[in-house]
Amino acid sequence: MAREVKKVGVVGLGAMGAGIAQLCVEAGVDTVGREVTAELGDRARDRIGHFLTRKVEKGTLVQDARDAAMARLAVTTELGDLAGCDLVIEAIVEELGPKQKLLDELEGICGPETVFATNTSALSVTEIASAVAGPHRVVGMHFFNPAPLMPLVEIVRAERSSDEAFETAFSFGERLGKHPIRCHDTPGFVVNRVLIPLLNDCVRVLDEARVGVEDLDAGMKHGAGWPMGPCELLDLVGLDVHVHASEALWEKLREPRMAPPPRLVAMANAGLHGRKTGRGFYSYEG
Ligand code: 3HC
Repeated sequence: MAREVKKVGVVGLGAMGAGIAQLCVEAGVDTVGREVTAELGDRARDRIGHFLTRKVEKGTLVQDARDAAMARLAVTTELGDLAGCDLVIEAIVEELGPKQKLLDELEGICGPETVFATNTSALSVTEIASAVAGPHRVVGMHFFNPAPLMPLVEIVRAERSSDEAFETAFSFGERLGKHPIRCHDTPGFVVNRVLIPLLNDCVRVLDEARVGVEDLDAGMKHGAGWPMGPCELLDLVGLDVHVHASEALWEKLREPRMAPPPRLVAMANAGLHGRKTGRGFYSYEG
């Protein structure tokens, strides 16, 4: 039922897209990564090269395998270069309009069998798919940050996804060495439906319990077994990304816990996005 994926396209090579492209080339799949400028494309290639080099230095990858993986990566600014891809995974900006426009363009470029997967975290896959003539070929493949390290990928069935597209995405997730899980297209899917309000609760507790950031993180690490504290995690995910996803869930579910706490919104508006801007709950400058 699943189709074989010989060549994959990744559109948008930010932290998530670059991580997904890294997984693909490490899994031996020819990969075309598309960015809007050559400079952003080069930055993503350098990022992937850096993490693969670290693996060589740490003895978890041999140099030849690293070089072969890098040789499988083509970076382009032309969407037309994705023409021969069996699967295209999009990880562009989390906005409905641009995602719909992209899929519409891809439909004119790729063959009729190409499966389109969106890495959206909080938008509706069904709504994204509604922009194309063939919504059966659209599914969700939701990776977790950092994509190369987190084992999970949620394979999301939209209202009109075909079994073939769904199973192609599922078996490709397995091929990447991930632990895929099947779910339907509901707000937040599985993990974010639970994790987003939980992280919002954590931030509210900062004020309610008058606990410090470090102590809250220590509490959840040492009392609940989290691998990193909630504030560290928000800094990793990006406060802008979290607030955006939280607002999307709030709009759809109207549950008060889904709404981003004002403290987070203020930080996001102030550019305190976490690791990527050098400051969030913690400072990463210098
Ligand atoms: N990409 C590729 N490789 C990376 C990387 C990245 N972004 N970040 C780190 N690495 C590599 C590095 O080479 C690093 O080694 P180095 O520091 O020696 O170079 C190596 O991975 C190991 O990194 P760490 O030593 O930091 O690994 P840890 O054992 O400390 O684990 C962790 C890190 C896996 C991030 C762990 O702390 C963890 O599981 N944290 C929780 C993360 C989490 O919950 N993520 C989900 C967020 S929610 C989400 O994504 C949903 C979305 O919709 C918003």
